[in-house]
Amino acid sequence: MQIVETVAEVREQVKVWRAEGLTVGLVPTMGYLHEGHKSLIDRAVAENDRVVVSVFVNPMQFGPSEDLESYPRDMDRDAALCEKAGASLIFHPDPSEMYHEDFSSFVDMNTLTGGLCGKTRPIHFRGVCTVVAKLFNIVTPDRAYFGQKDAQQLAVIRHMVSDLSFGIEIVGCPIIREEDGLAKSSRNTYLSEQERQAALVLSRSLALGKQALEAGEKDAAKVRSVILDNLEKEPLAKVDYVEVVDWNTLEPVSQVEDSVLVAIAVYIGKTRLIDNFIWERSTK
Ligand code: PAJ
Repeated sequence: MQIVETVAEVREQVKVWRAEGLTVGLVPTMGYLHEGHKSLIDRAVAENDRVVVSVFVNPMQFGPSEDLESYPRDMDRDAALCEKAGASLIFHPDPSEMYHEDFSSFVDMNTLTGGLCGKTRPIHFRGVCTVVAKLFNIVTPDRAYFGQKDAQQLAVIRHMVSDLSFGIEIVGCPIIREEDGLAKSSRNTYLSEQERQAALVLSRSLALGKQALEAGEKDAAKVRSVILDNLEKEPLAKVDYVEVVDWNTLEPVSQVEDSVLVAIAVYIGKTRLIDNFIWERSTK
């Protein structure tokens, strides 16, 4: 497995693979890889001849008061995980390689990005779309892999690929959890022992929402309040949002009819955690 830091090196390698008729999968990440990322890499390795993993903590998607500086990094461990999983190349650029001094072009979206995480993170998705569009142009993969853990991001990327005709297949992958239910996240490392326990309230509250839907509840407000009431029982939790939205448009629904995304964001101490589930018509 190679580790390269420049766009030119990636292009050169991909050109060689293409000349051999090989397919290429891309797994974009910000590093500090865990089992969630690994599930994406495993799937990419199973479905493509060669797999590129990008490891880049993208400054453009962090707000001014967010955790860009403290975001955890461990390139040696990441490289070992990628190699073991069967990736062929890690693209690990410096911010200056991705954003030249006179950088001034952005990919922005008028729908899908205003609600959910976009409310508290207004510039976040512009940063995500811009960097992912760049990665798509650099790697030109056949398929790219994203986790449902960041469900809004998955929907936004799918929409961008369709709007801008990237011609890349976007593969959504299920949420990988710790044994006790906490969704795996690089940010879990910020949690103290006490906060780690308190963080279980996210998956447990969602499970109650799911139970209500399974029991036939169709009123989105009622599903929300089941979840909210349980979250509010945890003294270390401060709710950012609890939303029941249409899985295609990400617009709030009042009645649960088609596929919906039930998504939450909750501060546990200073750490903002997200979790969700998708309720499909077929699962009803
Ligand atoms: P990052 O948070 O590192 O996540 C990289 C990919 O791993 C995303 O597609 C995310 O949804 C997926 N992922 C993270 N935790 C997961 C889990 N527990 N189960 C399944 N998949 C999981 O998301 C980003 O980076 C960035 O925004 C990026 C797309 C790389 C653009 O900078």
